[in-house]
Amino acid sequence: MGWLVKALAASILLCLCFAITESAPKSALVTKLPGFNGTFPSKHYAGYVAIGKDRRKNLWYYFVESERNASTDPVVLWLNGGPGCSSMDGFVYEHGPFNFEQKKRNAPLLHLNPYSWSKVSNIIYLDSPVGVGLSYSKNQSDIYRSNDTKTASDTHAFLLEWFKMFPEFQSNPFFISGESYAGIYVPTLASEVAKGNKNVMITNKRHKTKKVTKPVINFKGYLVGNGVTDPVFDGNALIPFTHGMGLISDELYAETKAACKGKYFDDENPSLECTKNKIKVSREVSLLNIYNILEPCYHGTSLSSSDIGSLPKSLLNLGKTEKPLPVRKRMFGRAWPLGAVVRPGIVPSWSQLLADTGTPCVDDRVATAWLNDPAVRKAVHAKEEKEIGRWMLCTDHLEYEHDTGSMIELHRNLTLSGYRALIFSGDHDMCVPYTGSEAWTRSMGYKVVDEWRAWISNGQAAGYVQGYANNLTFLTIKGSGHTVPEYKPREALDFYSRFLAGEKI
Ligand SMILES: *[C@@H]1O[C@H](CO)[C@@H](O)[C@H](O)[C@H]1NC(C)=O
Ligand SMILES: *[C@@H]1O[C@H](CO)[C@@H](O)[C@H](O)[C@H]1NC(C)=O
Ligand SMILES: *[C@@H]1O[C@H](CO)[C@@H](O)[C@H](O)[C@H]1NC(C)=O
Ligand SMILES: *[C@@H]1O[C@H](CO)[C@@H](O)[C@H](O)[C@H]1NC(C)=O
Ligand SMILES: *[C@@H]1O[C@H](CO)[C@@H](O)[C@H](O)[C@H]1NC(C)=O
Ligand SMILES: *[C@@H]1O[C@H](CO)[C@@H](O)[C@H](O)[C@H]1NC(C)=O
Repeated sequence: MGWLVKALAASILLCLCFAITESAPKSALVTKLPGFNGTFPSKHYAGYVAIGKDRRKNLWYYFVESERNASTDPVVLWLNGGPGCSSMDGFVYEHGPFNFEQKKRNAPLLHLNPYSWSKVSNIIYLDSPVGVGLSYSKNQSDIYRSNDTKTASDTHAFLLEWFKMFPEFQSNPFFISGESYAGIYVPTLASEVAKGNKNVMITNKRHKTKKVTKPVINFKGYLVGNGVTDPVFDGNALIPFTHGMGLISDELYAETKAACKGKYFDDENPSLECTKNKIKVSREVSLLNIYNILEPCYHGTSLSSSDIGSLPKSLLNLGKTEKPLPVRKRMFGRAWPLGAVVRPGIVPSWSQLLADTGTPCVDDRVATAWLNDPAVRKAVHAKEEKEIGRWMLCTDHLEYEHDTGSMIELHRNLTLSGYRALIFSGDHDMCVPYTGSEAWTRSMGYKVVDEWRAWISNGQAAGYVQGYANNLTFLTIKGSGHTVPEYKPREALDFYSRFLAGEKI
């Protein structure tokens, strides 16, 4: 059966559904994508959802239906971090339905990704908050200032609208996922969703009405990868990590530990000795790729992407994985300084960070070229560049305030309310090291119900897992950097599928 026949059949089906009950908006259907000439293994949708009082905020999403059973598989929301990074980072570089192959001068070619998370779930890639990626607002003042609280309530508003547009997915189990700064987005949004559901149910009871004005979101649990969580635990994580990984000497570790009294995060009054030792540690690791200490890093001083051709070939070939696109080595976007401590208040912008830290080690060229191609914008129902500006992996135009503090109490409330949580960590990431995530999950004080053990993927130990009561699981991915599905696509799909299915990982 040809593509056309299938597409016709699909659209007839859609029309029928629409006549019976409201269902997925036909106008959002993505029928072709530049760079891909095959048949989509499932339906794709993309477009804007307008939220807010005068609906002036427009959040852009890309929705991939499950390639297994869309009607019963879970719906998962994916969020990249930053703050200010587009979730198309996840789509292009991590677990999206396509592997992007970079072509010398031409647009990238898209191949099907055998480890796409759409193999087992329906997945929404959302550009959030407004002003990030392809999302925009008609009022610039919405874009330039944001914070955790506003982001969570806007994303919750998006979800309520989205489930109204796609009512056939309202009964699927729903999960929230993300990485890095989404360690803040995920639990804050999860709390909003849980609270929203409670309110809808109370309202319905009070009014003795069966007519639900707002959908109850069938929220089941969440996943956080190498997520920012708590300034003290995250701040204390780096020094033991560098020692455990053999990046600093026993002597320096002992001296630093003594000088800092084992507390490396001390915002108030660090001793001079402690500070001096911490600087020494930073110097020891300064040549490493912060996102994966095993990967190479470009040490040139130029920041323009035009000089990329002058990099030695051997460097460009390093870091290759099973994916056609080598792991990124340079990034022209936001990156965290060593220590990855997110303090309350304004989060520094990329250019401010860069002044202190030099060139970060990741690359965004393929995504930048593809998402700024007018044909791609058209195909994914996004506004043109002249209307909303260029797509950037991580925007520079956001003044973002971290206003929700530590996430630990939110995790406690959520897990005690019966929501399942998977806290996973690529164990070679130095940006948000596993040592912090391991320590804060343990600090919750839940009973260990599945004692530290290797977990298996493809017949090999793929990392370690510790299961706690209240369905809290901490998991490492051996040899992986900050963006786990980018480095370990097969292993990532394995733990993801098992977690969603409620199986032992
Ligand atoms: C897609 O393009 C590739 C490379 O140009 C070609 O080999 C292949 O036959 C094409 N596939 C289809 C279904 O047109
Ligand atoms: C999907 O799941 C539904 C409900 O269990 C079932 O009726 C349907 O046959 C399944 N479809 C496929 C393609 O497996
Ligand atoms: C934009 O938003 C700001 C702050 O809410 C408001 O003061 C201003 O009037 C708005 N401008 C427009 C054109 O709506
Ligand atoms: C977060 O942003 C919203 C909207 O701009 C604002 O009303 C609120 O006061 C901010 N919260 C904090 C803690 O600054
Ligand atoms: C946790 O839940 C309790 C009881 O519902 C509530 O009073 C408290 O504010 C919540 N804590 C946080 C951090 O949300
Ligand atoms: C853990 O999750 C399973 C599967 O969803 C559920 O049956 C069980 O009740 C949960 N346990 C707790 C303590 O919440």
